[in-house]
Amino acid sequence: MYEHLAVPAPDEILQLAAAYREDTRTYKVDLGIGVYRDNQGRSPVMRAIKKAEQLVLNAEDTKAYLGLAGDEAFNQAMRELLFGRGATSARASVVQTPGGSGAVRLLFELVYRANPAAKVWISDPSWSNHQPMAEAAGLAAGTYRYLDRQRQALAFEQMMADLQNARKGDIVVLHACCHNPTGVNLTIEHWRLLAEYFNRSGAIPMVDIAYQGLGEGLDEDVQGLRHLAENVQVLLLAASCSKSFGLYRDRVGCAVLLGNSPQLLVARANLLSLARVNYSFPPDHGAAVVRTVWNDASLRSEWSSELEDMRVRLQSNRGAFASAMALALGNNRFDFIRAQTGMFSLLGLSKSTIEDLRASRAIFMPSDGRINVAGLTTTVIASLSDALQGHC
Ligand code: LMR
Repeated sequence: MYEHLAVPAPDEILQLAAAYREDTRTYKVDLGIGVYRDNQGRSPVMRAIKKAEQLVLNAEDTKAYLGLAGDEAFNQAMRELLFGRGATSARASVVQTPGGSGAVRLLFELVYRANPAAKVWISDPSWSNHQPMAEAAGLAAGTYRYLDRQRQALAFEQMMADLQNARKGDIVVLHACCHNPTGVNLTIEHWRLLAEYFNRSGAIPMVDIAYQGLGEGLDEDVQGLRHLAENVQVLLLAASCSKSFGLYRDRVGCAVLLGNSPQLLVARANLLSLARVNYSFPPDHGAAVVRTVWNDASLRSEWSSELEDMRVRLQSNRGAFASAMALALGNNRFDFIRAQTGMFSLLGLSKSTIEDLRASRAIFMPSDGRINVAGLTTTVIASLSDALQGHC
């Protein structure tokens, strides 16, 4: 049987992570995979999370299965985190999933079940797993322009021009905040225009949110999402707790369906039946930790202030990198990085520069030049600005 299998296309982010792990140079630097790091290059468990884990451990009295939708108290916490306690959250149907990726995959499968002819429109560029996941679910996928590479800024006119080709029922994937990999985001005005576009065209928004709180703030980062949710009939949402709660390996996330009853109930039942044929029940631990943090005023405030510290550090790394580069190069070529937000930006470096950084400095980044801004420690900035002097 195995002889009929072809070698699958590698996932570059994971390939890079493996190459980094295997590299024996002690001074190696990982600017690849999207995991938050502190100024010592570590990814510690958040303090509020550690405390909540202890509470969960003490309170846990069974390991029996959860339901297909997971932990309803977690789902309610996510509803409040994402939408606030307003009107929209009442029509949001939330299903706990194994990570944000689990939610994306389940939603694509739901789309395929509902309308196999739907095409998925993904920003160019986007998270490298969006397109493979859409295609793995059986859907056709294409791209819309998003980034003006010259200015490293949003190409909104081109985006909207490309989206005119989407048909009723097609899916448009949007990043709620901290766009991966560009760090270039939609303003509230753009979200308003998008809401009008969706109502006009009948295309359906699918929002991916994996970095809430790491862009401009917990509420600020969902302003656009909330506007869309209030103003369109149908919306799909995939949310991850990996980065905002630092629960990467615990696989915590949720899929959210917005729509009107009674169709919404049928859609939810389909989502649950897809969960059943994929993995049955989601894992419990991380979700129990999230709902414990959310429902305890003191843990919640400790968590949100830790998250805010992480957010502020990302922005200050951006400023420090831009200033160091301006000093080293004598120009403002990298100033764009200040205006961008979140964990990633594209440096716009050539492939040979990226290879050279890896060979000569042990600085690892994917071939598109995306960097994890959290990895820009003082030492890394010094090494990078020194190395790039000969290249830019
Ligand atoms: C990333 O973009 O690096 C993260 O979202 C991790 C992943 O799964 O690719």
